[in-house]
Amino acid sequence: MGTSKILSLFTLLFIGYTLVNGSTRKHYIIYMGDHSHPNSESVVRANHEILAEVTGSLSEAKAVAIHHYSKSFQGFSAMITPEQAKQLAEHKSVVSVFESKMNKLHTTHSWDFLGLETVDKDYHKGLDTASDVIVGVIDSGVWPESESFTDYGLGPVPKKFKGVCVEGDNFTQANCNKKIIGARFYSKGFEAENGPLEGTNKIFFRSARDENGHGSHTASTIAGSIVRNVSLFGNAKGTARGGAPSARLAIYKACWFGFCSDADVLSAMDDAINDGVDILSLSLGPDPPQPIYFEDAISVGAFHAFQKGVLVSASAGNSVFPRTACNVAPWILTVAASTIDRDFSSNVLLGNSKVLKGSSLNPIRMEQSHGLVYGSAAAAAGVSATNASFCKNNTLDPTLIRDKIVICTIEKFSDDRLAKAIEIWKGGGVGMILIDHNAKDIGFQFVIPSTLIGQDAVELLQAYIKTEKNPIGRIYPTITVVGTKPAPEMAAFSSIGPNIITPDIIKPDITAPGVNILAAWSPVATEATVEQRSVNYNIVSGTSMSCPHITAIAAIIKSHHPHWGPAAIQSAIMTSAALMDNTHHIIERGPNGTQTTPFDYGSGHVNPVASLNPGLVYTFKIQDVLNFLCSNGASPAQLKNLTGGLTECHKPLTASYNFNYPSIGVSNLNGSLSVYRTVTYYGHEATIYSSSVENPPGVKVTITPAELKFWKTGQHITFRIDFLPFKSSNGNFVFGALTWKNAKQSVRSPIGLNVLST
Ligand SMILES: *[C@@H]1O[C@H](CO)[C@@H](O)[C@H](O)[C@H]1NC(C)=O
Ligand SMILES: *[C@@H]1O[C@H](CO)[C@@H](O)[C@H](O)[C@H]1NC(C)=O
Ligand SMILES: *[C@@H]1O[C@H](CO)[C@@H](O)[C@H](O)[C@H]1NC(C)=O
Ligand SMILES: *[C@@H]1O[C@H](CO)[C@@H](O)[C@H](O)[C@H]1NC(C)=O
Ligand SMILES: *[C@@H]1O[C@H](CO)[C@@H](O)[C@H](O)[C@H]1NC(C)=O
Ligand SMILES: *[C@@H]1O[C@H](CO)[C@@H](O)[C@H](O)[C@H]1NC(C)=O
Ligand SMILES: *[C@@H]1O[C@H](CO)[C@@H](O)[C@H](O)[C@H]1NC(C)=O
Repeated sequence: MGTSKILSLFTLLFIGYTLVNGSTRKHYIIYMGDHSHPNSESVVRANHEILAEVTGSLSEAKAVAIHHYSKSFQGFSAMITPEQAKQLAEHKSVVSVFESKMNKLHTTHSWDFLGLETVDKDYHKGLDTASDVIVGVIDSGVWPESESFTDYGLGPVPKKFKGVCVEGDNFTQANCNKKIIGARFYSKGFEAENGPLEGTNKIFFRSARDENGHGSHTASTIAGSIVRNVSLFGNAKGTARGGAPSARLAIYKACWFGFCSDADVLSAMDDAINDGVDILSLSLGPDPPQPIYFEDAISVGAFHAFQKGVLVSASAGNSVFPRTACNVAPWILTVAASTIDRDFSSNVLLGNSKVLKGSSLNPIRMEQSHGLVYGSAAAAAGVSATNASFCKNNTLDPTLIRDKIVICTIEKFSDDRLAKAIEIWKGGGVGMILIDHNAKDIGFQFVIPSTLIGQDAVELLQAYIKTEKNPIGRIYPTITVVGTKPAPEMAAFSSIGPNIITPDIIKPDITAPGVNILAAWSPVATEATVEQRSVNYNIVSGTSMSCPHITAIAAIIKSHHPHWGPAAIQSAIMTSAALMDNTHHIIERGPNGTQTTPFDYGSGHVNPVASLNPGLVYTFKIQDVLNFLCSNGASPAQLKNLTGGLTECHKPLTASYNFNYPSIGVSNLNGSLSVYRTVTYYGHEATIYSSSVENPPGVKVTITPAELKFWKTGQHITFRIDFLPFKSSNGNFVFGALTWKNAKQSVRSPIGLNVLST
């Protein structure tokens, strides 16, 4: 007894000592690569033993461990001090140690929308066949009662599925069916970093039930059943359906209030791979800059997914600027976002009868005209005119905005637009005109009639207010305009390359619709609207929304080509992508129609029909990925540990630009260079493909052989691409393309070169 008291006292002193030195505990992930343990119990035991070496005792190790990764790879997460983390990093069986960071869902609460349209009705009609493809969705859970998740017409749960339906708050076995075949949830990481969920005072379910809406939206975009005549307040009608309505969903809830702890996401990936999913969809990611691959939970998890034949489709992020694309490992399919040919117009009638073109998702009718006032002219006491012009919290004087439509401006693209409308509404204002050129393609939802206007409208508005003592205006409710041109356009928010970790790999890979997408929603997710309205379907935007479109198309390809691995599916989607918009010009970037490069859209805009039958496929295997990592500086020891001793770097190293990726990048072209690729033919008849090249400016490209002759399916041919630069590109990338064509298919690879010298 005496001894135990001394021990605990000692422990207390020890903790006190480390705190004094500023060594507060943080949540770390300790990653150990593949494992050869016979079962999860033996992995957990081994984890505790390794942890005990730095914590001093097995009981302390058990107390600080949060997650154990024991199924698809080995590792654990724990609340430990930086010193302990450093000691663990030196342990012989540890590959990497990194702090668990927060990922964000790739849409934000300020982008909550209202309205209704058909989900991409020209997509995939008749393409989906009876399918046993299982898609794992790591997100905020699911609202299982949504009509989108009925399992009518589906066969039994595929035998290969090993997952379970975990019960929890308002979620029982009965909430799983032949559509939602599995459901799990992960909160330990989030809670270790932020305290108990209960402490947030927000609605949540300690189960796979979705309180946020985001997870139901992404899951139903992937594989939602067909639901006709969905209507929001009886206002708008349409059909909602997922891209692959007969695919099955395995739900992994790892995101709480829009945040997803690395440690929880990694646990979800560990389970999903072991459960037997075919494809994993992640509409979330780290804030830029992207961490190196082996210190990033998503990259690590996706590496093991790739190794087990599971394709990971992930969003590139909504970070607006160059060098911000995330989830850029070559074993991840990275998805950018673009528009569809539909606008939500909400125009403004001025007192002089001129009409300002505006846009928003605005169902509220303004019955009469109201006075117009600039936010800058209605500053609250002590607030500068500039600050008041942004209409943020507590910046406007209620007496000056009562009964008025307030004209506001944007400070940063990431401004909370809804909060501006709430500020006006709280002060007694009746409407908002937001000068917001860069976001006017995105349908926002507000609490009072509001609209976003661009440069042309701003000029009309300013001219009117200058000449009119008592300017007035009226905001019209939204009308949906379809067939708008040009479309698609890259969404202004979509994150842009280059890939800052391995610049020889062009990223993002592909773009798909991600602006104003209708899909299922959680009826308890009402916090975004002051009126606490509950909706079952919602329109939202983000690369979060484009990623599930690509996931769905990948599921359809998988059902048509069950033996294709992740690289082949990725290649099929990329090489068949389209570059032209509906005005027959290369896709531009919104809102000003600026010129784009593959760093905006990768290989182009997804073309689901063509992707089913791509003709030629670029594939790579795990050994190629390892060679790629070797040429990017991974040590043989790191690799060996990563793969459980499976392999070492092959000498001489394969240059990273020779990695058999479906796009072609050289990030430092120093004089002429030959690059190699290998294609595999998937077709029934003998055929000949001819090469066609778009030379990047300043570089002559030749292909040898210029023609490829195939006579049987599965045949491989390697060809050479010679780059002869004659002009330096001054530190920027220049772009071109290689396309293999026969009578049926065009197999296109973008080329991106940074020409250092000729
Ligand atoms: C969840 O379950 C509790 C207890 O059964 C019930 O009171 C509550 O209404 C349920 N919530 C929802 C949103 O179904
Ligand atoms: C669609 O739903 C509305 C109610 O929201 C109903 O009045 C209408 O009859 C329905 N239309 C069809 C074609 O089912
Ligand atoms: C304007 O806002 C900024 C940032 O919110 C603040 O630092 C500054 O003091 C404000 N200025 C005035 C005059 O209100
Ligand atoms: C602004 O107001 C909104 C709602 O009224 C609130 O949720 C938010 O926390 C406030 N933000 C700040 C910075 O005060
Ligand atoms: C688009 O043009 C407007 C002015 O016409 C400008 O304010 C805005 O910053 C431009 N946006 C981009 C992304 O170039
Ligand atoms: C890999 O594991 C071996 C043996 O387990 C060890 O000697 C080596 O230091 C480890 N290397 C790295 C980079 O972790
Ligand atoms: C390019 O190659 C030349 C000659 O081989 C060499 O001197 C130079 O350092 C290289 N430049 C870069 C940036 O690699």
